[in-house]
Amino acid sequence: MNIIIKNFLVQAAITSIALGQFCEHQWEGKFADHEVDGVPYLQARQDVAPPPLEIRPLIVNGPSSNRVDLIFFGDGYTEDEKDKFFDDALFLANNITDGQTFFDVLPVLNFWAGFSPSKENSLLTSEKSGVGTGGKPLDVTTASPNNGPVIIRHELGHSIIGVGEEYDGGEVYTGVNAAKSIDSVPWKQWYTDASKEPKIQRTNMPIQAYPWTLLNTSQSWSQTFTSAGTYSTHLLQVSVSGVTATSDLLVEIDGKDAGWEWNPAVGEDRYIYNIKRDEALAPGEHEIKFTLLNEERQGSAQLCSFEVLEYGDEEEFNFEPRYHGLYPTFSYKNVTSYRPTNDLCLMRDTYSANFCDACIEGLWLSLLGRLKLIDNITQEAQPDGSTNATLNLLPLAKLRQVPNPHEEAYTILWYGADGTTVLKDWTNSTTALLGPDTTEFGVEVRFWTEQVRVDSAGVLVQKERYSVE
Ligand SMILES: *[C@@H]1O[C@H](CO)[C@@H](O)[C@H](O)[C@H]1NC(C)=O
Ligand SMILES: *[C@@H]1O[C@H](CO)[C@@H](O)[C@H](O)[C@H]1NC(C)=O
Ligand SMILES: *[C@@H]1O[C@H](CO)[C@@H](O)[C@H](O)[C@H]1NC(C)=O
Ligand SMILES: *[C@@H]1O[C@H](CO)[C@@H](O)[C@H](O)[C@H]1NC(C)=O
Ligand SMILES: *[C@@H]1O[C@H](CO)[C@@H](O)[C@H](O)[C@H]1NC(C)=O
Ligand SMILES: *[C@@H]1O[C@H](CO)[C@@H](O)[C@H](O)[C@H]1NC(C)=O
Repeated sequence: MNIIIKNFLVQAAITSIALGQFCEHQWEGKFADHEVDGVPYLQARQDVAPPPLEIRPLIVNGPSSNRVDLIFFGDGYTEDEKDKFFDDALFLANNITDGQTFFDVLPVLNFWAGFSPSKENSLLTSEKSGVGTGGKPLDVTTASPNNGPVIIRHELGHSIIGVGEEYDGGEVYTGVNAAKSIDSVPWKQWYTDASKEPKIQRTNMPIQAYPWTLLNTSQSWSQTFTSAGTYSTHLLQVSVSGVTATSDLLVEIDGKDAGWEWNPAVGEDRYIYNIKRDEALAPGEHEIKFTLLNEERQGSAQLCSFEVLEYGDEEEFNFEPRYHGLYPTFSYKNVTSYRPTNDLCLMRDTYSANFCDACIEGLWLSLLGRLKLIDNITQEAQPDGSTNATLNLLPLAKLRQVPNPHEEAYTILWYGADGTTVLKDWTNSTTALLGPDTTEFGVEVRFWTEQVRVDSAGVLVQKERYSVE
């Protein structure tokens, strides 16, 4: 029914990509709100032929009329690279649905790819400009095969679930995964131990910065920050790009090597490193210092961002990945909001392939809110005058082609002409045989999944009345 159009651009074999922070650059420029000779620009251009567009199916699970369609568009692929575009698009569609991320909801999605050739390979001429943008409709641009799936699934989280960030330093914290205060927590039903909540996990962010600065070997880049000295452990998060070896860069706290190690899997791409340090920061001033050691990386090596988080002791902060409680998140203005898990969710840790329970529930509600559980119903007159009514449902629960590891069930009730009598013989059956004198009947379909605990809008139930045809 509803078509969401998602754009992305993938182009492999690119070197030296300095990826922008995924959601930090929302393009809000104006496009067509000017006039040509007194006629609105778009109207003045109506006689221009549209660009050629070839749409191919990637993963199709049912009729577009009752699925959420995701269309990947390429940009920067030439006519000669058409096959590569469709391969890249299929890689991405598979990557974000194959046993992870969108796997559970895959039966209600269709993935398509739309190809329109570019005259030239625009990316190769702008190697350093790879940035991710988020918005509605989604327009994601990435030039990196590593970061491609990472950015797509995170941005799809924003646009499909309608949630904001969970990482620190963002601007927007809204939706099912964000609480402004402990009195307005939308995921109470997912608390791992409700008897302990609301308990704010004890943590603090003494410094966060986005220097986006090229590093050089003549001078270190450093900054000081202050710790209250009342926490037990801390984490240093650093994002850098343009480095190709651990020996390229030294990261120090208070003159001591903090233990940064390059991730070979990402090459020169920007990568966010988390260095957990199981010791307390002493009260008072501290210095964090970045020193480029390899002269050959000058002009490429970039310090993008860093932050320090401090944590209370085991009683005060729960590091258990699946623990759902109240974790403080600090915005770019250091305003505190709360999120459900520490770093389980890909809305916080973009390298995670999974959503937290609150986001998964939001994903189901958002998707099913746009769809109907019943694709259609067919009626077939039988020789004896009775009618065989058969429901085609969204292929979930037992109707899944590929089972998922979660409990799901359909409850199906058929009602007679009066609308209240349940035709018990056909309960939970997708077909019913209706007697010769039946003129109308009703169906109530309920979908249940353990991944949804609160459905206040009632999107997991559909009730219909039908006339016998
Ligand atoms: C998805 O892509 C990433 C990076 O390219 C890769 O490491 C990962 O194994 C892929 N996962 C799946 C399920 O395809
Ligand atoms: C954020 O606020 C907390 C509490 O006031 C403070 O301890 C911390 O240093 C601040 N962090 C930054 C980056 O301003
Ligand atoms: C080297 O880096 C330091 C620290 O970022 C900066 O202040 C300085 O201007 C840089 N020098 C050159 C020659 O780029
Ligand atoms: C009914 O829905 C099924 C999918 O559930 C589809 O295959 C079929 O074509 C649809 N039939 C009609 C008549 O629309
Ligand atoms: C119908 O299915 C639901 C969900 O599995 C189940 O709870 C219920 O007991 C079933 N009803 C009958 C009559 O089998
Ligand atoms: C109705 O028809 C479908 C196939 O057309 C069949 O699978 C089903 O068993 C029939 N239902 C009944 C109740 O006879």
